Amino acid sequence: MITNPPNVLIVGCGSIGERHLRCFQSTGAAMVAACDSNPALLEKVAATYQVPKFATLDEALACGQWDALVICTPAHTHLPIALRGLEHGAHLLIEKPLAVDDDLVPQVRAAIAQSDRAVAVAYVYHCMPWIAEMRQALLSGEFGRPLHASVVSGQHFPTFRPAYRDIYYARHESGGGAIQDALTHIINAMEWMLGPVTRLYTDASHQALEGVEVEDTVVISARHGSVLGSYTSNQFQAPNETTLQIHCEKGSICAQSHLQRCGTLRHGQADWQWTSFGPLERDAMFIDQARAFLDAMQGLPHPLATFEEAVQTLRFNRAALQSARTGLAIDLP
Ligand SMILES: NC(=O)c1ccc[n+]([C@@H]2O[C@H](COP(=O)([O-])OP(=O)(O)OC[C@H]3O[C@@H](n4cnc5c(N)ncnc54)[C@H](O)[C@@H]3O)[C@@H](O)[C@H]2O)c1
Repeated sequence: MITNPPNVLIVGCGSIGERHLRCFQSTGAAMVAACDSNPALLEKVAATYQVPKFATLDEALACGQWDALVICTPAHTHLPIALRGLEHGAHLLIEKPLAVDDDLVPQVRAAIAQSDRAVAVAYVYHCMPWIAEMRQALLSGEFGRPLHASVVSGQHFPTFRPAYRDIYYARHESGGGAIQDALTHIINAMEWMLGPVTRLYTDASHQALEGVEVEDTVVISARHGSVLGSYTSNQFQAPNETTLQIHCEKGSICAQSHLQRCGTLRHGQADWQWTSFGPLERDAMFIDQARAFLDAMQGLPHPLATFEEAVQTLRFNRAALQSARTGLAIDLP
């Protein structure tokens, strides 16, 4: 049974955890509490949002019945915390990427199967209206079969995360580097539209970001079955821009995150027909994501990434890193 309103524990209240806390609170449909192992940060977040606080997960789980956990710690801790949450009987919203390896995937899958809890992964592109519109246009069948997809994406990461050297980003083992941090959003969105990546080749390199050695630039050649994909991302360029395109038999579909719009161009037409969704604040998508998760907890339909979809994107992340290391193309069964 879910408490009304449900009790939602935010585990990890750093950059994205604070945003989730604020956005769940903004729905007005959840009682939110904060858990973080950094005492100063916990104090500040709890005081800012006037919420209960817990220094450890153990303390929080012993203290109350949580209807849901929102897991916002670094990636290598997501699945161990997910297991604790499922044992507790909580629904789970897990930040991306799902994990950095698949060691605990079978155990978590089994625990989900034995529970009647909703488990979703916070690939927030699922809550961007221009991406939803793109997917809708593709699935309508009006454009015929997809043949080729491309994504060109980048931003100046130091502007958005000045602390990038000191957080999970600095090491692959904690979910860092361009592939697991940024590209994973794009690939998950493309897999949501085109199905799983079945083959890939990666070129990746550390090009610019000072103080880290992980790749900040990645170029992928991929296949989703018969659909070819070319996906690029870097984390040092000046413009904060992401353009996704899918070219089909009868025309093309485009989403531009920086302009918050989706367009279509059919063969025979002279120019793109745009639908604009902005201006939307970044929190708006996270509030929609929180609402969608609260729906999922009640068994209602929702657009969020499922556990299995995130497992597939984890498979992609690992294969992309392996391809970058070995210089070989990789088939994904
Ligand atoms: N969806 C998005 O747009 C988005 C954006 C940023 C980060 N993320 C993802 O969210 C996760 C966290 O990223 P971040 O940028 O918020 O990192 P962060 O370093 O800012 O915050 C992580 C917090 O977790 C806390 N923590 C670590 N282990 C803990 C534990 N066992 N119990 C309680 N607290 C613990 C740390 O003290 C820290 O405050 C990563 O997986 C990252 O990839 C997603």
